[in-house]
Amino acid sequence: MNYFEYKNGELFGEGVPVAQIAQAVGTPVYIYSYETLKRHYHVFDDAFKRISHITCYSCKANSNIAILRVMGSLGGGTDIVSGGELYRALQAGIQPQKIVFSGVGKTEDEIKSAIKAGILMINVESADELSATQKVAKSMGRKASLSVRVNPQIDAKTHPYITTGLKKNKFGVLWDEAHKLYRTMKADPYLEPLGISSHIGSQILELGPFVEAVQSLKKMVLHLREEGIPVRYIDIGGGLGITYKDELPPQPREYGKVIERELKGMDLTVILEPGRVLVGNSGILVTKLLYRKAGPGKTFYVVDGAMNDLVRPAFYDAYHEIVPVNRKTGRGIKADIVGPICESGDFFAKNRTIADLGNGELLAIMGAGAYGFSMSSNYNSRRRAAEVLVKGKEFFIIRKREIFKDLIRGESIPSFLEG
Ligand code: LLP
Repeated sequence: MNYFEYKNGELFGEGVPVAQIAQAVGTPVYIYSYETLKRHYHVFDDAFKRISHITCYSCKANSNIAILRVMGSLGGGTDIVSGGELYRALQAGIQPQKIVFSGVGKTEDEIKSAIKAGILMINVESADELSATQKVAKSMGRKASLSVRVNPQIDAKTHPYITTGLKKNKFGVLWDEAHKLYRTMKADPYLEPLGISSHIGSQILELGPFVEAVQSLKKMVLHLREEGIPVRYIDIGGGLGITYKDELPPQPREYGKVIERELKGMDLTVILEPGRVLVGNSGILVTKLLYRKAGPGKTFYVVDGAMNDLVRPAFYDAYHEIVPVNRKTGRGIKADIVGPICESGDFFAKNRTIADLGNGELLAIMGAGAYGFSMSSNYNSRRRAAEVLVKGKEFFIIRKREIFKDLIRGESIPSFLEG
């Protein structure tokens, strides 16, 4: 469910014609819908209303500070994975006590900033990282609130690049190792073992793997409590999938129900780290058809957006629905929709049946709110796209299109080459 809909054959974001935004801001442009974000947040968060929980939006999915502010204003926290994301979260006004810090390679500087900010907990992912945390906390004379990210060895049955809970993956530690880390924490006055965490993958389309993961974490919590380690938070990560094409992901309501069933009476606060399910279908990427090019047996639509703007099709062979901003009648044609970048991997769709469009017409790439802009780059020295947030009949530029000067910011020509 989202608020990008046709009205009289023209695509709108809430009450604003998409073409009007493209006209004002240019293309390619990301457009997000405030009402959709709000709705998704509430549907997700309400699914856990019967248990103590914090929805910590995983901001790697879309880290624009306006989007973070939306989540914060609705009561959400943030799951971060870098010092940069911590900076964004704080800039957006997210309460530190609702921030959790995941990731396998946190630097000492990042750990220091997290402790200084007073975040809820750092999810430790290895013995070395725990030593680094110990050193930093001691040097600051502050206590670090921690959880251990365990790897529950569960197959999330998703794309290999986005599965994280298998033994062969780099994430988390196995139970025996986790156990040792908790003992180290217990013995150290600067370390406070507060929680346990896991994240098994992304775009997960079944509840089974989530249930298995929670069951396995639950056992560990009971074990730790027996040893006098009072774990209070259980961070079950993110990963709930969405519909890009014809997938039928579990509804947040069903997800909430099974988690509630598993954790009843455990006296734990659940930390949730949803990313895609909150923002994925809340955003589109609008691009303009530059040229039609006839190829052998097919047509290429060369558009002004490219893999640097939205890399998911190139990277994961991901499917995104693509629709014309002005609806067309007729059967359409078969085309490859490609960008101007000098790589054959620069495509948004292959052999797609699409409306028969003329040069200059607009296309909307749907479901682009998650891992769209946040994975964009300047490859081919392309300026990154503008981002717009629509609310009702108004729209707001939440990130300006980059200018050429942005491309060389920080670069310099050494003196021996001058003159
Ligand atoms: N928590 C942790 C520790 C994570 O690593 C992730 C995602 C999430 C939460 C949020 O997962 P979500 O709810 O969005 O599934 N770039 C890929 C997805 C990579 C996901 C990485 N980790 C894509 O475009 O499909």
